[in-house]
Amino acid sequence: MLYIKPVAVLFLLIIQFTTSGQQEVPTNVALGAYTYNSSAYYVTDHQSLTGSLAVDGVSDGSLCSLTKPEVLPHWIAVDLGNVFKIFFTILYAGTNGYIIQLWNDLNFFIVGVTNRSLDFHPPVGGTYDLCAQYPGVVASKQVVQLNCSSTTPPARYVILQQPSNSTGYMSVCEWEIYGVPYGRYRTNLLLKKPAMSSSSYFDSYCSDYVAKFVVDGFFDNFIFHCHCSNTKDPRGGGNWFMVDMQGSYCVDYVVLTARDYEGGYDVQIIMNRMENFIIGLTNVSSATSPPVRNTYPWCATWPGLVNPGIKAGLKCNANLPKYRYLIAQASATAGDGYFHVCELEAFEPLDRNSLIWKRQANKLLIGFQFNQLYARSAMDCMHKCQQLGGCDSISFHPASKLCQLNAHTNGYTSLTVDPNWSFYTRKKYSTVSQLETFMLSEPLNLLKRTGLDMVLFH
Ligand SMILES: *[C@@H]1O[C@H](CO)[C@@H](O)[C@H](O)[C@H]1NC(C)=O
Ligand SMILES: *[C@@H]1O[C@H](CO)[C@@H](O)[C@H](O)[C@H]1NC(C)=O
Ligand SMILES: *[C@@H]1O[C@H](CO)[C@@H](O)[C@H](O)[C@H]1NC(C)=O
Ligand SMILES: *[C@@H]1O[C@H](CO)[C@@H](O)[C@H](O)[C@H]1NC(C)=O
Ligand SMILES: *[C@@H]1O[C@H](CO)[C@@H](O)[C@H](O)[C@H]1NC(C)=O
Ligand SMILES: *[C@@H]1O[C@H](CO)[C@@H](O)[C@H](O)[C@H]1NC(C)=O
Repeated sequence: MLYIKPVAVLFLLIIQFTTSGQQEVPTNVALGAYTYNSSAYYVTDHQSLTGSLAVDGVSDGSLCSLTKPEVLPHWIAVDLGNVFKIFFTILYAGTNGYIIQLWNDLNFFIVGVTNRSLDFHPPVGGTYDLCAQYPGVVASKQVVQLNCSSTTPPARYVILQQPSNSTGYMSVCEWEIYGVPYGRYRTNLLLKKPAMSSSSYFDSYCSDYVAKFVVDGFFDNFIFHCHCSNTKDPRGGGNWFMVDMQGSYCVDYVVLTARDYEGGYDVQIIMNRMENFIIGLTNVSSATSPPVRNTYPWCATWPGLVNPGIKAGLKCNANLPKYRYLIAQASATAGDGYFHVCELEAFEPLDRNSLIWKRQANKLLIGFQFNQLYARSAMDCMHKCQQLGGCDSISFHPASKLCQLNAHTNGYTSLTVDPNWSFYTRKKYSTVSQLETFMLSEPLNLLKRTGLDMVLFH
């Protein structure tokens, strides 16, 4: 079940590569995507013209993204969530004098692509790969298509930026990006599945902030754009969402897109509401029995406050079996209650590689041991290693059940031959570089920020 020989792993990877990449008709893969912006024009506490308005599916010019004139350079960007081969983009330009008396400068706009998380690497012209540069002037409200060059590498993030000699602001009513999936594609198990919540907040901007907004595929995290859901239970109350995956899945990690700060109140309020939020799993529908904290199996808990607007990625604890329902719940002591989520995603393990430890029979590691205990089996020893943290490998002695836990952050040298021992290493950050290059992890900063070990182990 768990031990796959390294040879078998290589074989699996090769199969996955050769069966991927079939040709498909390009679709607009930007619709609803998580967006970044150099700045967003603040209209009121209930309206901010963020980059999300460029991917909201409404191109008629009624609501457009708008950057702040004084903040340079101007750009917006999207996280497509997976790697896509991009063929062309269509830009629906905003007007001149949109809200502020300036002109919309999209002349010679640049479209670029990158795989580097924009959380860490905001776009700087020349540091990303080019799709293409528009070869002319863009008039107010003009709709223009820009084809990417055929050498544009597939990528996860797409950037729209003004050239450095631009003078006006940047307003985009819609930005469509046409592409096809490239390589491995991770499927969000929750997308558009039935969602329930303990309660839903109501106001005149969006009426009901219903549970289905957490799985609508729109990452817009400005709550008054009506793609986030909000409960209304007090602190310690229900404050939960439940999504029916309509099948049983082994959930490996979960990403929660948090509400962004709109202004007009103390930002700490929304950070506190999300503090230590819980992700759980169950086979019991909330229709039968609403989830109660500490009674359902835990995927993970977010450690501490949640910064506004981020994608908070959580790796589930190891060894969870398959479940049908996923729970997101506020901690019993979080803020003033009122739990809010803009998008919730869940993914199965990225690859078989994440399920294995590598075994080397007849080997013993000397000199890196930090703990020694007894374990029922090698498996049990691995669990103990996993639970303790800071544990990089184990040596197990089946005859005596002795389990040695080793730490070697800078590698090890002294593996000795001993027929009575077996040595097991965890697949470590080598897996992460694979994730970065072809397996599409969540932005790694978020996984690291959780303080959880990124090592994938079940
Ligand atoms: C967009 O701009 C606004 C205002 O400048 C900022 O608060 C927000 O964090 C930006 N969003 C992203 C994801 O860059
Ligand atoms: C863009 O590509 C399409 C085919 O995909 C082609 O018909 C069109 O002429 C191209 N436009 C430009 C400006 O190159
Ligand atoms: C701005 O730069 C573009 C090339 O990026 C160039 O074609 C254009 O003429 C320049 N515009 C001005 C006003 O200098
Ligand atoms: C949840 O239900 C599914 C389908 O009936 C089953 O395969 C799975 O083992 C159940 N999980 C647990 C932990 O009982
Ligand atoms: C391995 O175990 C056997 C049987 O207990 C013992 O005779 C032998 O000396 C052990 N080998 C080593 C290298 O410790
Ligand atoms: C992004 O990653 C893919 C592999 O998943 C790779 O083929 C592509 O070249 C990368 N793109 C960039 C811009 O680095």
